Amino acid sequence: MNYWVVLPAAGRGERFGGPVPKQYEALPGGLVIEHALAPFLPSKGLRGVVVALGADDTRFAALPVAKHPQVTTTTGGASRAESVLAGLNAVRARGGTENDWVLVHDAARPCLGAEELAALLTALATPEGASSGALLALPVADTVKRSGALGPTGMAPVTATVPREGLWRALTPQAFCLGPLTAALENALRLAAAPGGEVPTDDAAAIEAMGGAPLLVPGSPYNVKVTLPADLTFAATVLRSRTETTRHD
Ligand code: C5P
Repeated sequence: MNYWVVLPAAGRGERFGGPVPKQYEALPGGLVIEHALAPFLPSKGLRGVVVALGADDTRFAALPVAKHPQVTTTTGGASRAESVLAGLNAVRARGGTENDWVLVHDAARPCLGAEELAALLTALATPEGASSGALLALPVADTVKRSGALGPTGMAPVTATVPREGLWRALTPQAFCLGPLTAALENALRLAAAPGGEVPTDDAAAIEAMGGAPLLVPGSPYNVKVTLPADLTFAATVLRSRTETTRHD
C-alpha cells in the first residue's frame, strides 16, 4: 500500500516544560523526533514524509534525517490541527492526490513499533478501514473519573465515574485519505473559530464530526506520547529494551 506521512512537530511542549521543545529531547539512539520518523523511513510503499515545524524551528534542519530524500518540511500552525493541515497541503504540492492515504503521526511519539504500524496498514486494506480510515488506540484500563473544578493544590472533587466499557485512548498514526482529512480539518477549524468552538486534538475527531466512524486498531502501550518528563524516562526504557532484544536475537 502506498502512503504519505505527515508529522506534526510544531508544538512547544508547554506541559513538558524545559528550554527545548519535547520533540527535540534526547533519547538513547537519537532525539524524540528522530525516533518518531524512523519506523517510516525504510518502509515499503512510503511516498514521502512532510514534517510540520514551528515557524522559528532551527533544530530540524541540523539533523541527518532532514537530508533524507523522502523528507521535506513545511511550517505548522497554532494548533495541531493547523499543523496537520499545513502538512496535507504540502503533500498535495508534492503530487499527492485526494485518494492517497496519509498517516499522521505525532513527532512526540518515539516508540511506534513495526508490528503496530503493520497492523494499521493491514486495517486499511479491510473494507471497513478502507472506507472509514483507521487509528491506533488502546482500551482504557483504569477506572475513569470526571472531576469538578481543579483546586489550587491540583486536587479536584469527583463528579462522576465514567464507565470505561467501550472507552479507548487515541494514539497515532491515524490514517485517512488526503481529500477527506483536509475537508474535515478545514471544517473543524471553521467550527472552532465560532464562540465556544474547540479545535480537535486528533485527526479522527475531525473525521467523526463529518459523520465518519474510523476503525480503532489495537496499538501498544509502549507507543507513548511524550507529554511530561516521566514519559521521556518511560520511552528511554522502551527503546533501550528494544536495542537489547535486537542484540540478543
Ligand atoms: O500537544 P500535544 O502533545 O498533544 O501535541 C501532539 C503533536 O502535535 C506533537 O508532535 C506536537 O509537536 C504537534 N503540534 C503541532 N503544532 C501545534 C501543536 C502541537 O504540530 N501547534
